[in-house]
Amino acid sequence: MAKDVIIPLDFASAQEAFAFLSLFPAGEKPFVKIGMELFYAEGPAVAREIKARGHRLFLDLKLHDIPNTVKKAMISLRNLDVDICNLHAAGAGEMMRAALEGLTRPDGTHPLLIAVTQLTSTSQAQMNGELRIPGTVEETVLAYAQNAKSCGLDGIVCSPLEVPGVKAAFGTEFLTVTPGVRFADSETDDQSRIATPAKARQLGSDYIVVGRPITAAADPLAAYRRAMRAFLGDAS
Ligand code: C5P
Repeated sequence: MAKDVIIPLDFASAQEAFAFLSLFPAGEKPFVKIGMELFYAEGPAVAREIKARGHRLFLDLKLHDIPNTVKKAMISLRNLDVDICNLHAAGAGEMMRAALEGLTRPDGTHPLLIAVTQLTSTSQAQMNGELRIPGTVEETVLAYAQNAKSCGLDGIVCSPLEVPGVKAAFGTEFLTVTPGVRFADSETDDQSRIATPAKARQLGSDYIVVGRPITAAADPLAAYRRAMRAFLGDAS
């Protein structure tokens, strides 16, 4: 499985996103992510353009609605030719199965579908007190991962800290995409369960999502390369 650093294009417009991507030399095509901010502003056209420019793309829309609505939304998304799509595992199994059905093209192929377990901004206290979910974050992540796996999903979104438990329970092939990554000298921002790129590598993450430490850096290209070196190891 190819390990990689994914950069979220958390920008308000396609113009800003492409200005950011123009910092990269022509031969260097980072794996990128579009979330709600850019997708709601620009629609599917921005996803098509990013794919046309040769990037791999994670469409991070975190669907969470009744099964029929999520299935229909996934039917709309499946023709965008993105590499990864996601939803909230909290939507429960029937919703996840409907999503996979909707995402599957007539030829049987589908983008990888992964489930958000607990947002990396959510603390143990918030999960217990506000979401009214008892137990530890890791227990919830494992239970949600189990449900996602039994619904046929390809993996989950979780914090790097939960990866060893997920891999031990569900195998190395079950994908872990991990936001909440910060350099030792970065701001934490609103993230709560965090690790450095080197720590995420050691814990076994497949893909790390590194946003503001790259996009808000004085030299984003240098910050991206720093994350790549730390996550993939100097030899690669
Ligand atoms: O800037 P930062 O590195 O915190 O960005 C993290 C990105 O990953 C954001 O685009 C956020 O929406 C996304 N994300 C997350 N936690 C999740 C799922 C996605 O932070 N559980």
